[in-house]
Amino acid sequence: MLIRPAKCVRGEIALPGDKSISHRAAIIAAMADGESRINNFATSADCAATLECLRQLGVAIRQKATKVWVEGVGKSGFGVSDRPLDCGNSGTTMRLMAGVLAGQKFDSVLTGDDSLRRRPMGRIIKPLGQMGVEIESADGRAPIKIHGLNPLRPMKYELPFASAQIKSCILLAGLNGDGETTVIEPIPTRDHTERMLRWFGVDVREMGIGDTGKQICLSGDARLTAADMRIPSDISSAAFFLIAAFCLENSDLTVVNVGLNPTRIAVIDILRRFGADIRFENQGEQNNEPVGDVRVMGGLTARTEPLIKGNVIANLIDELPILAILGTQLERGLEVRDAAELRVKETDRIAAIVENLRRMGAEAEEFEDGFKVGKSKLIGARVDSFGDHRIAMAFAVAGLLADEGETEILGAECVDVSFPGFFETLQDAVVYE
Ligand code: S3P
Repeated sequence: MLIRPAKCVRGEIALPGDKSISHRAAIIAAMADGESRINNFATSADCAATLECLRQLGVAIRQKATKVWVEGVGKSGFGVSDRPLDCGNSGTTMRLMAGVLAGQKFDSVLTGDDSLRRRPMGRIIKPLGQMGVEIESADGRAPIKIHGLNPLRPMKYELPFASAQIKSCILLAGLNGDGETTVIEPIPTRDHTERMLRWFGVDVREMGIGDTGKQICLSGDARLTAADMRIPSDISSAAFFLIAAFCLENSDLTVVNVGLNPTRIAVIDILRRFGADIRFENQGEQNNEPVGDVRVMGGLTARTEPLIKGNVIANLIDELPILAILGTQLERGLEVRDAAELRVKETDRIAAIVENLRRMGAEAEEFEDGFKVGKSKLIGARVDSFGDHRIAMAFAVAGLLADEGETEILGAECVDVSFPGFFETLQDAVVYE
């Protein structure tokens, strides 16, 4: 894929449904009693993997473009699969489905592509073990074989680090617990699972702890009732466009009907801190999730401290590759710390960001837990997606911002993992002359 420098981005764009919310909508609808209808379901390959796994477990699912109908089987009504469940590239599919399968009365095997089979699964094997579930794995990595158990032993579990996937895995398992399951979350992460469970009638109780943390509790007695949903556009996909618009003077871009959940919009807060003129319009709520149009005007006026670290990292984790690109345009550059989690995403994102930025002539330094980029002139170059969708999309934006030369992205087709049609949508919004 070849990208050439752009003048600005303009217009109104609609993006695919949110990936995190779509996974949860499908899984929780499958655990409910009755048929649920989902509108604007994500077109991402990751969410298609979740639907496929559910089908293999006996859930009847119909799909027409982005409309999906799920015939729920009840929280412990899944059927045994005669072959391994393939989660593809999707860590969310594997970790959330593990929570569901832990509470079924049969064994299941979850596997995935090369990237997913390299990612750590000990983080869910350990808590599910405390709920009485035996899980075999290749040294804490997929394929994992889950020996289902029903009911599960309820527990109180404090997350050892911020992860919405671990939290969601335990809460979904807790629905088949023999009593109350509690997750203690010292650092807040995306709360789509809690919101979605409530939408399906589950009494999810929360109590604040410390300055930012919370304790989340649900009961194994809970019943889920089918519900209809509309999935908002994905703020993590929007981030690529918002940052392109912010960096290119004379841009005026609106992304319509974006999910504006407070645990996902840290990227907007950061952009505003850097001086971005971002407005929310037509705000509302869809199935317990705040939504609205996001309008951004071009023009960089960075004034703030160029360091991002601490608790906010958990709510920015997927946006850090594109924030690295923004860093090359900021007067004082940008440093990101406390983000070692980036090393165990679809690829080692710290290494990938630094390698590609250097290929484009940027000043970039690598740390074990982050990176530092200086204000740099970007020169078009051949960069690698390393098979990671967010690296491919971040460097497409870098190509638009380049001072000169074309940028070639190797392995750009991996954008399909979260955003099929990314390059077409970009093309529609970009103005070259
Ligand atoms: C996700 C949680 C995050 C995020 C991932 C999606 C989710 O992972 O990086 O893209 O939908 O719960 P962790 O919870 O492992 O940090």
